[in-house]
Amino acid sequence: MKNKVDILVGAQWGDEGKGKVVDTMGPNVDVFVRYQGGANAGHTVIVDGKKVIFKLLPSGMLYPGKLCVIGNGVVVDPEQFLKEVQELRERRQDRACLVVSSLAHVVMPYHKILDKAQEVFRGKGRMIGTTGRGIGPCYVDKYARNGLRVEDLLDADRLREKLSVALEEKNRILTKLYNEKPMSLDEVLTPAVEWGKNLAPYVGNTSELLYDAVESGKRVLLEGAQGVLLDIDHGTYPYVTSSSTSAAGGFTGTGLPLACLDRVIAVVKAYTTRVGEGPMPTEDKGEIGDRLREKGGEFGAVTGRPRRCGWLDMVALRYSMRLNGANVIALTKMDVLTGMKEIKVCTAYERNGTKTDRVDFLVLEEYRPVFETLGGWDEDISACETFESLPAAAQKYVEYIEKGAGAPVQLIGTGPDRNQTINRGL
Ligand code: IMP
Repeated sequence: MKNKVDILVGAQWGDEGKGKVVDTMGPNVDVFVRYQGGANAGHTVIVDGKKVIFKLLPSGMLYPGKLCVIGNGVVVDPEQFLKEVQELRERRQDRACLVVSSLAHVVMPYHKILDKAQEVFRGKGRMIGTTGRGIGPCYVDKYARNGLRVEDLLDADRLREKLSVALEEKNRILTKLYNEKPMSLDEVLTPAVEWGKNLAPYVGNTSELLYDAVESGKRVLLEGAQGVLLDIDHGTYPYVTSSSTSAAGGFTGTGLPLACLDRVIAVVKAYTTRVGEGPMPTEDKGEIGDRLREKGGEFGAVTGRPRRCGWLDMVALRYSMRLNGANVIALTKMDVLTGMKEIKVCTAYERNGTKTDRVDFLVLEEYRPVFETLGGWDEDISACETFESLPAAAQKYVEYIEKGAGAPVQLIGTGPDRNQTINRGL
């Protein structure tokens, strides 16, 4: 088996700028793959000042002639899928070949209703702050073995049969538990049959396709969505998403064997953000947080919600580097720190007078960050093309992260555009 597969993961709470990193790596990649999550992701790519946001499709869709795959681990919202394909077509950017796994589960309209109803049910203080895209309820059905898969959409009779069973249960839950209106079979079936017809040309056996690609020497990039700290097992549970966002999810989510792994690339934002509820030790609710939010454009790509912002959390980063076995870092949004008099990095947590440099999610809410202060820089770095041309303080910041996280920074983002990137070998 050839070691041709790289996995790229968000090392924080998502929104690290993975879309741009994937796009930058594009020329050296043959196959781009999404392996978990769904239309809750928002991967932004900016080419020549024009912004494209992919929620469901892999970020490699803008590259002509490449293969883009949606693996079995993704939950597919057919409406969103077809909308993104249509938008690319209208802009004449549908240049890549796209295949979606027949085994991927389908986000149905009742999943979205349930997602929102469950948030209301949890109430203030217990809410997760989901994106409302039906992700959690769809994965629940997958594991409860009640779900519909993409392959089910392709056969109208089978779909009718499976959907009537699913709806019977969902309608009881919707009406009796959440006081919602029931859904009629026709109301759900009619659009679903239509989705099936439109999706059919894209459906395939993606695990076989990917295996063959690797065997024939193609370079494959698995593109993680969200971030490791939102992982269903290893994240800040219950304030997490419902999939395996860590590198390990890349294998179950595609059917590729572990033996083909080459690099694990951690995408790290130069500071920290989080959207939705849950602990975030370095959150800054004052001037610094506001400044990072404004300068970094930290508003959700999917929901438009303002993101919570703060300094880089090295304790959480070390945890996520270990968990992923990440051996390369792509450091994004360095330019957002330009103009800060000083830059702080959280190197430990403190609780009841005791310091720790380990993550304990159970009490993460109670931790106070212990900061180390580094020098800032004023020079505009957006046109820097080499590491050496960065101001000395910016170079020091990069080296500090390399030392603390234990991996080389091979890519540095100096601005939103595709070209505003210092590539040191990624
Ligand atoms: P869900 O994935 O919609 O169920 O939301 C669960 C949690 O994950 C919420 O806190 C969301 O804000 C967060 N989340 C989901 N997708 C993303 C993403 O792409 N970036 C950042 N946070 C996300």
